[in-house]
Amino acid sequence: MVFREKLPSDIVSTFNDVILVPGFTEVEPIDVDVSTYVSRNVRINIPIVSSPMDTVTEHEMAIALARLGGIGIVHRNMTTERQLEEVRKVKEAPQYPVYFCYVEPSIKCRDVLKIMKELSVEYLPVVSSGRVVGFIRKIDCVKYPDDRVVEHARSPVVASLYERPEELRSIMIDNDVDIVALVDSSETFQGIVTIWVLDENRPFIPCLDDEGRLRVGAAISPFDRERIRRLDKYVDVLVLDVANAANLKIVESLREICKDVSADLVIGNVGTYESAVELINRIERIDGFRVGIASGSICSTGIVTGVAAPTLWATAQVADAALEYGLKVPIIADGGVKSPGDAVKAFAVGAWCVMLGRVLAQAYESPSPVISIGDRKYKYYRGMASEGARTRRYAVDRYSRKVKDISEGVEGLVPYRGPLETIVKEFVSGIQAAMGYIGVRNIQECWRKARLMRVSSIGRGEVEPHSIFLKL
Ligand code: XMP
Repeated sequence: MVFREKLPSDIVSTFNDVILVPGFTEVEPIDVDVSTYVSRNVRINIPIVSSPMDTVTEHEMAIALARLGGIGIVHRNMTTERQLEEVRKVKEAPQYPVYFCYVEPSIKCRDVLKIMKELSVEYLPVVSSGRVVGFIRKIDCVKYPDDRVVEHARSPVVASLYERPEELRSIMIDNDVDIVALVDSSETFQGIVTIWVLDENRPFIPCLDDEGRLRVGAAISPFDRERIRRLDKYVDVLVLDVANAANLKIVESLREICKDVSADLVIGNVGTYESAVELINRIERIDGFRVGIASGSICSTGIVTGVAAPTLWATAQVADAALEYGLKVPIIADGGVKSPGDAVKAFAVGAWCVMLGRVLAQAYESPSPVISIGDRKYKYYRGMASEGARTRRYAVDRYSRKVKDISEGVEGLVPYRGPLETIVKEFVSGIQAAMGYIGVRNIQECWRKARLMRVSSIGRGEVEPHSIFLKL
């Protein structure tokens, strides 16, 4: 053995080390197709998967993301019952946003106008004791601001909560209204849907299963067979949630699990070519890989243990292993994806989609409340191996095994950025812009054509905003 040879001559490339090289392009960003797969059988319409973290994905995030075409993976830092409940809520949610918005019969017409303005609608349902008793028009509220709503209410336009979007649109058009009041099977008011969210030309197509329900995934431990068995009935994809899947005990358990489950099974995290080959050779069924170790914004694994497989590098490693071993399954690049550019760099080296933690934790729909400090707003975000998250896991999951006694994650605040839709729109447009520069029409073309170049740490500063006095 020669110890000197252990010191690497090679450098690992991370997102910040490389830039995408522009090419001759015939592609307009708007024409770029970003649809892809998260696992062997689960197609998604945008390449975004939410991370199974307790400050990122519960039902609100999973519903909002699936409505935009991506998929949420519900975290497992909760009891089996609660995780099942979260998943069920996603499956039972309508594929379009529903606003729980109504007016009571005794309210003054002038007050209704404010709500109508906020929602950009001309009608609102009048609801009393949970029943829809009428509809109030904007025109009447303008004419009679001092009257009570009940004096001008007309007969309501009502539909079932589970009515198909096309049907709801026709109901609105036939009745010449811009909203419909939705009720459940016991005729109880559940909210309104507006014509704007059902627009046929809306930019996002929801991610739906064969029965028209929103798709959802769930994080699993390889040792909690009972949880896996129960979740399997409801979810589209089960996502293994361990720091390093290339571990004998985990593999032994997965060999059994993969025989029993009917949902797709994504294995992760995986960090190297060799690990991926071991997994491919030992596990009969793998429906996708979740790739990257220690690159996440809240990860301290690299600092604590000195071990890391940065996501960009790991993606290329695992994508090559899958290709060489003839396993055509999605590769999810997970950890450290900060921008649309990082996502496209990951596509360039074989990723099919990206998993986002921090970026989505900043959305209204993540589980943390909005925290105000001075005139700034924040959300709470923590690593799943942080002290706080670990304490919770050992309390709620009797199958979690404490195999190490050290935290490998941190907790903190991230700036609040508003509704998920705004964040996702910007992210997807950024991906399309990057792919337009490269001249590729879709993610598969990106695998073949995109080129990466290394940029020095000094040069990096030149490809970021620089040399201005104040960034506003
Ligand atoms: P981003 O950068 O999107 O990363 O915030 C999210 C991913 O980070 C991983 N993760 C962790 N890794 N310690 C780690 O070493 C942790 O406590 C931790 N929590 C999450 C995970 O892969 C996630 O998707």
